[in-house]
Amino acid sequence: MLRAGLLITSAWATLSLTSSLALADEPGRGDNDADARAAATEARMTTDERLQLLYSIMPIAYDGVPSPAPDYVTPGAGYVPGIPRLGIPDIMETDATLGITNPLGARTGDVATAFPSGLSLAATFDPAIAYQSGKTIGSEARSKGFNVLLSGGVNLTRDWFNGRNFEYLGEDPLLAGTMAGQSIKGTQSVGVVSTIKHLALNAQETQRNYIDAQLDDSSLRESDLLAFKFAIEIGDPGSVMCAYNKVNGSYACGSEYLLNDVLKRDWGFKGWVMSDWAATHELDYFNKGLDQQSGAQFDKQIWFGAPLRAAVDAGEISPDRVSDAARRILRGIYAAGADRPLEKTPIDYAAHAKVARDAAAQGITLLKNTGALPIRSDRKMSILLVGGYADRGVISGGGSSQVTPVGGDAGIVPVGAPGAYSAFARQVIVPSSPLDALRRQLPDAEIEYESGYYPGTAAAHARDVDLVIVFATKWQSESMDSPSLDLPNGQDELIDAIAAENPNVVVVLETGNPVVMPWLDKVAGVVEAWFPGQSGGDAIADVLTGAVNPSGHLPMTFPMNVQQSPRPRIEGLGKPDGTEISVTYSEGSDVGYRRYSLRPDKPLFSFGYGLSYTEFAHSSLSIRSAEDITARFTIANIGERAGADVAQLYLTKAAGKPVRRLVGFAKKFLEPGQDESVELTVDPRLLASWIDGRWHIASGQYAFALGHSADELSDPVEISLDAATFAAAKATSAN
Ligand code: BGC
Repeated sequence: MLRAGLLITSAWATLSLTSSLALADEPGRGDNDADARAAATEARMTTDERLQLLYSIMPIAYDGVPSPAPDYVTPGAGYVPGIPRLGIPDIMETDATLGITNPLGARTGDVATAFPSGLSLAATFDPAIAYQSGKTIGSEARSKGFNVLLSGGVNLTRDWFNGRNFEYLGEDPLLAGTMAGQSIKGTQSVGVVSTIKHLALNAQETQRNYIDAQLDDSSLRESDLLAFKFAIEIGDPGSVMCAYNKVNGSYACGSEYLLNDVLKRDWGFKGWVMSDWAATHELDYFNKGLDQQSGAQFDKQIWFGAPLRAAVDAGEISPDRVSDAARRILRGIYAAGADRPLEKTPIDYAAHAKVARDAAAQGITLLKNTGALPIRSDRKMSILLVGGYADRGVISGGGSSQVTPVGGDAGIVPVGAPGAYSAFARQVIVPSSPLDALRRQLPDAEIEYESGYYPGTAAAHARDVDLVIVFATKWQSESMDSPSLDLPNGQDELIDAIAAENPNVVVVLETGNPVVMPWLDKVAGVVEAWFPGQSGGDAIADVLTGAVNPSGHLPMTFPMNVQQSPRPRIEGLGKPDGTEISVTYSEGSDVGYRRYSLRPDKPLFSFGYGLSYTEFAHSSLSIRSAEDITARFTIANIGERAGADVAQLYLTKAAGKPVRRLVGFAKKFLEPGQDESVELTVDPRLLASWIDGRWHIASGQYAFALGHSADELSDPVEISLDAATFAAAKATSAN
């Protein structure tokens, strides 16, 4: 049944999502007339040439089988031969979410800038950093001979245990979509296609090829799909990668609903859909909207090769659909300018390291500080660093996003896993040692390191120093989830033992998910450094010493315990790989803080939380609803240090009902005593519900509040929205 309401229009697609963006496109961005050019080229192609574009192989030797690609092809994640007579380039694909990867070390000795994790990027709440990181990774890709990046994971964090959360951008559609969109835009500005992935609901790794993720259309559109939609509107990625899992009974790569209905029909997506690697199980996926089979040698068949040709010849698949798929691929390439000849060129790794360091420092999130930080430099301090391989570097997440850092790894800790995933099961420590960085930044301090292997020894060393910094790590990887919120390997006991000896303990976390902190009351400080990438040690030191005032904010809720979460345990864990499971996401579109905020018990740290060495005040919030909804307010730095604040605007009431939705955010750097007035335009979809195939805003009272986090809010400001009046200012079609 249709509820009284109003239609939300595609005109909204042009609204800006945050107020502070002024990021110009760079030269190198592609052809404005990509559609026409793609159509013209495609019209000149033979059927064989069209079909040639429709599957990629992975150009590496694997499991004793040599690379199926010609020798000149740069080993990477995917390769599709080009068509020289039409100027169509080879498609050379690489994983790149956190930097350019080198799968199984196939390019001997090749390294790349290892960027901080996606969560760290999201914690910056700074779209300009996303753009700059995407652009830097894109330029490294071109220099290495790649023109398509498999980057841009935007799956929302639905569960605290998901092994791939570190690659993604947290639990909120506006934040994740904005950051992914800017990163895509940055990448494509230098003539490289960016891929957004994994459409959709790839929310856990356990049984990822056999899980049926259940969520109704309305909830999907208001949450996970909204993140994709925002990112696609901002970044216009050339391609979309569909996920391994099923969604409501159909494999995502064979889902008519996701690919043909939502992505191509409702959203008018013009690029191409590629499958995840070995995620094409049937030829029929082609008709359901999948344009390109990826890593095709790993599937049961190269479906989009000979079987597709035979089906076209037999009249079972229409030549128009083949033309459509080929046109989409060409369009994506032309629009990004990815048909420019690839030339291997030297890379300015030093400059790229600076981008990675700045991004890491901006993402580091201060969770507790009773005064131990920033570290005092006005007297000779004795400091003990404990654990976390802090003498060597920082840890990184595992899986297809794993980068071999510049300078090589600083050590590998084997983890071990069965079968196909064994190659992922290793903790790669990336260089940039926090110990060296702190010694450099605090030349007068006496800084020593203790491995923490024996808690008793570390505690004994901790007794007489001025400050102890414990580096606590929790490695995560693609293909495996973490079954508890605890720190592994006795690190909670280690922290306890040290805190019993010294009141001045700061814990630096390197994690790819939330952890519980049973020792929280006993320590003086907690810093979440995520997986901070190859400049992570420097970035951590920047924040600990106060060279950078922390301004990261949590992109995901840290629950008090697993019982607080929607799913305390992992479905399918411990069952043989291949066990069919089903998970119903009963929280619907109330992902993360949207759900926690409506409950009586509070999480450990809420979404959006993050401290600074200074203090910020927000005031004078006013909301105006005319053609758009705009919010105005003032941010002031009322402390004594310069620093950046992340002002968060939340919707707290929609048509009279309590809700919690981030509807805008702005990161502002302010000198002490400085204030700045901010204006945000609110995307109306964030006020709306998706009902019967349309966005609707019901008439009634809507309340907004400014937040330092999702549960630390200012007094709300209410407006009354009259659906009819509001609708009048909008165009008519919805998506
Ligand atoms: C991952 C993708 C990745 C692909 C190619 C898959 O295992 O799910 O994210 O792009 O491999 O390496």
